[in-house]
Amino acid sequence: MSKPLTGKVALVTGGSRGLGAATVRLLAEQGADVAFTYVSSEKQAQAVVDEVHGKGAKAVAFQSDQADTSRAPALIDDVVAHFGGLDILVNNAAISVAGTVDDPDADTAALDRMHATNYLGVISVIRAASRVLRTGGRVITVSSGLGSRVGAPGLADYAATKSGIERYTMGVARDLGPRNITANVVEAGLMEGGMQPPDPETLNALVSSLSLQRMGHPDEIAAAIAFLASPAASYVTGAVLDAHGGYNA
Ligand SMILES: NC(=O)c1ccc[n+]([C@@H]2O[C@H](COP(=O)([O-])OP(=O)(O)OC[C@H]3O[C@@H](n4cnc5c(N)ncnc54)[C@H](OP(=O)(O)O)[C@@H]3O)[C@@H](O)[C@H]2O)c1
Repeated sequence: MSKPLTGKVALVTGGSRGLGAATVRLLAEQGADVAFTYVSSEKQAQAVVDEVHGKGAKAVAFQSDQADTSRAPALIDDVVAHFGGLDILVNNAAISVAGTVDDPDADTAALDRMHATNYLGVISVIRAASRVLRTGGRVITVSSGLGSRVGAPGLADYAATKSGIERYTMGVARDLGPRNITANVVEAGLMEGGMQPPDPETLNALVSSLSLQRMGHPDEIAAAIAFLASPAASYVTGAVLDAHGGYNA
């Protein structure tokens, strides 16, 4: 396999499992030194680090709660201290909390934590990373098809966080473009083994609304992220790459 990311340093938020872990593996296979965060899955994070090391590449995991926006500058400092710089930021970490807006029993604390993690937390990491991203850098924000269209009830809060970081990423493209840093969005779709809608009925409705009529594999979304990280995407910025099986077709 060619290694288009040789010499690059990447930070993937939420790399201990799911899409984040698939992205860590792929960016490392393509030559990058990869730092990633997790919040509670220490063993899974260590397993991902061990797997990458086993293939002769470099990875390091940092425990860092993205819902605590004050953590972001120290996280970026840790990455730079460990690998000597930063070229690629993948904003992947997120949680999903569902519930209709008129639910009298809504867990508002959980919903507020989702807003903090998925929206303010992402912004805090982008702000801190933008201080150090090198020329030719990449900001890649993982969103969802729900960031552009809410396809089922109970997803208003989650969709709002994703829509918000999509628009923020467009602003990043404008602000960092003069430094030859691109910023793009990948709208992921329903993935095997990842966070899913709460009930089978909603899941079935969403899957049957897709052109491809199936869930995606994390490796299929990681491939879209790796493309945007690669030299081949040097003139792509401010774009939304749909990797959700045709949710909007
Ligand atoms: N799965 C889907 O069907 C789907 C569909 C569309 C879009 N997406 C998007 O794709 C991305 C990845 O989803 P996924 O399904 O792979 O997620 P996942 O399997 O639930 O993994 C989430 C990752 O984020 C980390 N994380 C969660 N809260 C965090 C926090 N406060 N601070 C730092 N890290 C935190 C987790 O760390 P721990 O392991 O330590 O908890 C884990 O590494 C998300 O942005 C999601 O919105 C997913």
